[in-house]
Amino acid sequence: MDFTIDSATPAVSASFEATPDPRQREILQMLTRHLHDFVREASPTIEEWNSAIAFLTDVGKWCSDTRQEFILLSDVLGVSMLVETINGQDGGTESTVLGPFHMTESPRRMLGDSIDMIGGSRTCVMSGQVRSTSGRPLAGAAVDVWQCTEDGFYDVQQPDVQPPGNGRGLFTTDEDGRYRFRTVVPSHYPIPTDGPVGRLLAATRRHPYRPAHVHFLVSADGHEEVTTHAFVAGSAYTDSDAVFAVKKQLLVDFADCADSGLAAAYGVEAPFVLAEFDIVLQEQA
Ligand SMILES: [Fe+2]
Repeated sequence: MDFTIDSATPAVSASFEATPDPRQREILQMLTRHLHDFVREASPTIEEWNSAIAFLTDVGKWCSDTRQEFILLSDVLGVSMLVETINGQDGGTESTVLGPFHMTESPRRMLGDSIDMIGGSRTCVMSGQVRSTSGRPLAGAAVDVWQCTEDGFYDVQQPDVQPPGNGRGLFTTDEDGRYRFRTVVPSHYPIPTDGPVGRLLAATRRHPYRPAHVHFLVSADGHEEVTTHAFVAGSAYTDSDAVFAVKKQLLVDFADCADSGLAAAYGVEAPFVLAEFDIVLQEQA
C-alpha cells in the first residue's frame, strides 16, 4: 500500500503491535498518534524539520555528567512539572521539580548545623516538622536540602569559589519529627543560558529566572517520598518562574526576627531570618 498522509499513522502504529511489554506498546502507539497529528498540523518545511533535528542534536551534545540540557528543555516546556504533578501526593505537601542541581550527595549534618560554609551576610534559620497525613510526627525522617548562595549560584557552578557541599545538608528529624538548620536566604537565579535551551528562551523573549527557593527531598519509612521547594515569599519572579514550579502552598515567609531568646535557642545572634516549613508525607498504601 502506498504511503499517504492518512495511512502513515495506522502503518507505524501496527508496526509496534508485537511489542511484548503492553505498557511500552501502548506508549509507542500513543506517541505515534500524537506525533503524527502534530506534524500534520504544523506541516513543517524540510528546512524547518532539519532545524528541529539540529536543535535536538545540540541539546544532546550539551549533556555531560554535570550538565543535563534535556532536563532543562523538559523544565522550560513545563513537562517536568506536568509529570511531577501527575505523580504528586494526595493530601501531603505538594511536589515540584527536582531541578538539575541535585547531582552530588548532600553531606550528613547534625540538627542545628549550618549549611553555609562561606559566611553569608544574613543568617537564616530554617526549621519545621515532618509528619504523616494522619498528623503523626515522623521521627528519623531524612531531610535532604540544597540551595544557592545569596548571589544565586550552586556549589557545582562555582568550584573555585565554593567548597563542595556548600548550601547542602542531609538531616535526620528528632523524636518530634522536627528539623532545623542554619543557612542564608537564597537569591533568585537564572537557569543556564549558554546552551541551546538558553537560545530557545532568548528567541522567544522569555526570561531565564527562577524565584528564590530551598530544595527539599524528604523521605520516611512507610511514606511516599516528596521532592519539593520552599519558595521565599515575595521573591522576584514568583509569578513567572522559568520552569513553572511555583505552587501557593510552597510560598514560605522568611521573616526578620529580633527575639534574642529565640536566637539563643537556635545558636545565632539577633536579628536573624526565620523560615518555618512543615512537610507532610502521604502514608504508603
Ligand atoms: Fe534550585
